[in-house]
Amino acid sequence: MKILITGGAGFIGSHVVRRFVLNYPQYEIINLDKLTYAGNLENLQDIESKENYRFIKGDIVDREFIDGLFEREQFDCVIHLAAESHVDRSISNPLEFVYTNVVGTVNLIHAFKTHRKNPEGFFYHVSTDEVYGELSDEGKFTETTPYSPNSPYSASKASSDHFVRAYHETYGLPVKLSNCSNNYGSHHFPEKLIPLFINNIRNRKPLPVYGTGDNVRDWLFVEDHAAAIDVIFHKGGAGETYNIGGNNEWKNIDLVRLMCKLMDQKLGRPEGDSEKLITFVKDRAGHDFRYAIDSSKLMNELGWEPSLQFEEGLSKTIDWYFENEQWLEHVTSGAYLEYYKQQYEQR
Ligand code: NAD
Ligand code: TYD
Repeated sequence: MKILITGGAGFIGSHVVRRFVLNYPQYEIINLDKLTYAGNLENLQDIESKENYRFIKGDIVDREFIDGLFEREQFDCVIHLAAESHVDRSISNPLEFVYTNVVGTVNLIHAFKTHRKNPEGFFYHVSTDEVYGELSDEGKFTETTPYSPNSPYSASKASSDHFVRAYHETYGLPVKLSNCSNNYGSHHFPEKLIPLFINNIRNRKPLPVYGTGDNVRDWLFVEDHAAAIDVIFHKGGAGETYNIGGNNEWKNIDLVRLMCKLMDQKLGRPEGDSEKLITFVKDRAGHDFRYAIDSSKLMNELGWEPSLQFEEGLSKTIDWYFENEQWLEHVTSGAYLEYYKQQYEQR
């Protein structure tokens, strides 16, 4: 079976590619990635010489290129992760999100529909719980929660989800979808909360907590997300959506305090030392208050469950960043630093 994985050089994509390449030597895995600021082939150094793996650099928005690729390669299945993924960037540059997340997705699924030969093959679209909007203190998102995206990022992902479902309804194309909560783990670009704060605590830089820090996120270890994608890919029903979450809700401020505590212990700093770095800054525009996922469909029907307790996963993640300073140095040079200035210097 020949599987195209898009966005495989990114954070979650690299974990999915590694899992499929190592666990399924009988599959041919092709990783298609544009290598934006968020895509880094260093994430895949350990598997790049495997016989069942190939990398192709390319943009999913490029219609001619994508059409030619699908015609030539005749992929059996697609796992689509390529996206612009950072909410703050979507606030400053929404159009980039429309191109990659909406136009790119339609471009891909259209080429898949046009050139596919294997009737068993399907298009698996990886999405986010942010499409459901925000929750108050009560309740959780289920697969039937109405879409109500609030940020340009979540609006673009919601639109892509609708297109994927529309290809199923209109053309009978076999598709699968999953909507996952916030991920954390190794190889995470240091602009999202957890990797940014690990980097800042380490370098004694301020920890910019948006607003009051009372917003809540449901955190899932990235390898558990990759395991869920594996189980949905192999056992999920055609046309079905599955929610994936960690059942692990944290107020941002409590999470930041836990990170400070763990890192003070690991760095041999006095208790409470890193908490002094916490700085409350202007809130994010349209900041969703709370996300929480009900994953019971995935757990009951397909038997998936998260494997790690949060403190253990967070501790492993911090250790990975300590052990991979070079990785961090590479991604924090140049473009990333400029972006950092633009986001935080005026705040
Ligand atoms: P990421 O930003 O780390 O990686 C995205 C990858 O896509 C990068 O390698 C980038 O180079 C590539 N890419 C971007 N534009 C492209 C284009 N036009 N053509 C080809 N490749 C392109 O993102 P991530 O956090 O790994 O997220 C992967 C997917 O999972 C996204 O679809 C995202 O919406 C979804 N998701 C993420 C989270 C999360 O917490 N990070 C949670 C739920 C769902
Ligand atoms: P983030 O990691 O950007 O993920 P998302 O916005 O997709 O949930 O942010 C997680 C939470 O942390 C979110 O409530 C915004 C908040 N946050 C901060 O308080 N400070 C920061 O510097 C960042 C990047 C995020």
